[in-house]
Amino acid sequence: MQKTVTLVITGGIAAYKSLILIRRLKEAGVHVIPVMTRAASEFVTPLSVGALAEHTVYDHLFDLQHETDMAHIRLMRDCDFVLIAPASADFMAKMAHGLADDLPSTAVLASDKPIILAPSMNAAMWAHPATQSNRQTLLKRGVEFWGPADGELACGDVGNGRMLEPETLAQLAIGRLQPQALPLASKRVLVTAGPTREALDPVRYISNHSSGKQGFAIAQAFQRAGADVTLISGPTSLDVPSGVTCVRIESAVEMLEASLSTLPADIAIMTAAVADWRADNIAENKMKKVSGQKNLTLRLIKNPDILVSIGKAETRPDIVIGFAAETENLFHNARAKLRSKGADLILANDVGDGAATFGADTNQITMFNEVGDETWPTMSKHEVAEKLVQICIDRLKDQSK
Ligand code: PMT
Repeated sequence: MQKTVTLVITGGIAAYKSLILIRRLKEAGVHVIPVMTRAASEFVTPLSVGALAEHTVYDHLFDLQHETDMAHIRLMRDCDFVLIAPASADFMAKMAHGLADDLPSTAVLASDKPIILAPSMNAAMWAHPATQSNRQTLLKRGVEFWGPADGELACGDVGNGRMLEPETLAQLAIGRLQPQALPLASKRVLVTAGPTREALDPVRYISNHSSGKQGFAIAQAFQRAGADVTLISGPTSLDVPSGVTCVRIESAVEMLEASLSTLPADIAIMTAAVADWRADNIAENKMKKVSGQKNLTLRLIKNPDILVSIGKAETRPDIVIGFAAETENLFHNARAKLRSKGADLILANDVGDGAATFGADTNQITMFNEVGDETWPTMSKHEVAEKLVQICIDRLKDQSK
């Protein structure tokens, strides 16, 4: 049976990109059933949408001819999944509250198929607690989100809220319909992310400022390229990207165990900021201040190096990638890490005071490999992840020659 996507276009400036999305889906042989809200038809005409989709457009009006056939129910069931792109803040709110006051919202409510939203809105609207609460409600109901991305927005602001590019949405949709066609289908990828926490006593620990954003973005990008991704993460507040298997750990020793038990893998990417040291003895009870005490000596012992262990494993992945977080001598230190850690690539970033890498949405990478180094411009952490996916695809191709 022909693969089918019901595409709901809601009102937003990104609606024009849905025309490109339809074209890309059609080129891949996907049948597209278009649905439009009233607001969407202020941005693109049903005529253009219908012509590109080669299909009747179901719009905001309950059409007598369609409805004798219960079109609003059928059109959401005769498909593999429903993609709402662009998904406006208003449409998300309607979905979260179960409103059904026009054909698109009624049809989505009647759907028994997976529903995916590609949000598109101003960054402040996306960040608003109301929108985020609607997002959480929808996530809990199993609705998936593709995006939004960071970047320049139609209003001139820069931030998070931009709809993913139509080519990316088409690739994601095609990947979902035909997972075996994706470039990393059947590849297993291990990603470490976030900080580790090394307990000193039941209430205190040694850690660092890693938020996990870079590692989670990498896990998501590899999953979208078709890989079977296991993400071993220290404590973070991030949502696990859909389709990624996440193992939550606290300490470096736990991260090592979880990483080794994920092998064999084809690619390992170690973005975690692993604490190099842990307490020799973890106090059983909260350490007390003794009256008159002026200082405290902690005896620390070295943690295992997870990257080195993966690089030396009997079932070493074909590609082993480390990160290097540097506050000085980035080139010298990263080159030394490439040699000493047995990695194929080291992606170095400045984590000094002025760099704002920890916790930020952007990163500036210099990549080191066997032949030299390459400095990338500042990019979003998602763009870094996508670039890394392409580098791995190319390396795997070279290795198989
Ligand atoms: O999480 P974010 O807020 O998005 O920030 C991203 C980041 C700055 C944490 C990330 O881009 C990064 O640089 N990660 C590596 C941090 C780090 O620990 O760097 P390092 O230079 O100390 O270690 C070098 C490599 O060895 C890293 O791949 C690290 O994962 C690995 N390592 C280090 C020590 C250890 N005991 N085991 C390890 O595997």
